[in-house]
Amino acid sequence: MKGNVTTMASLPILIAPDPRLKKPAVAVERVDDEIRHLMDGMLEAMYAANGIGLAAPQIGVSQRIVVLDIAPPDGPAQPMRLVNPEILWRSDDAVSGEEGCLSLPDQYADVSRPSRVRLRYLDHENELRELEAVGLLAKCVQHEIDHLDGVLFVDHVSAVKRNIILRKLAKAKKSGALAPA
Ligand code: NI
Repeated sequence: MKGNVTTMASLPILIAPDPRLKKPAVAVERVDDEIRHLMDGMLEAMYAANGIGLAAPQIGVSQRIVVLDIAPPDGPAQPMRLVNPEILWRSDDAVSGEEGCLSLPDQYADVSRPSRVRLRYLDHENELRELEAVGLLAKCVQHEIDHLDGVLFVDHVSAVKRNIILRKLAKAKKSGALAPA
């Protein structure tokens, strides 16, 4: 497992269906110590759950913040912190690939997205940066930015498939099989 695993309890990750996951998040005014601390906590929660991306709404914070680490699990951690990420350009093609989400545990579906995107974001020093993403990073940033707009990967699949997944999760939550949000 990557990152610093501590015995301290991580921030709890919300499980769908939850209205807080459907709410569009607001922009961060300035990346300060409070935001940096929040991002460190998000990374810790993400690593603890063996995830590769986490958006602030998933921990019940309605702000436009994303953390990612797509480095191989056996290699060194390569955490990324994106504040107010905004997609400036998307390639015209679409690639389909399986996606999962820490807010929809053990659920997977193929989602089609542009293979390449260019984005703008504020880094941990409040500096404006641009990044061109391809492959897994492109897929991951699009998935996480969706969270900031209240969109889950199941919103990209058929209503039938989405309802099956959400019903399964609602049932698991009710039975106590999933950690309470
Ligand atoms: Ni997700």
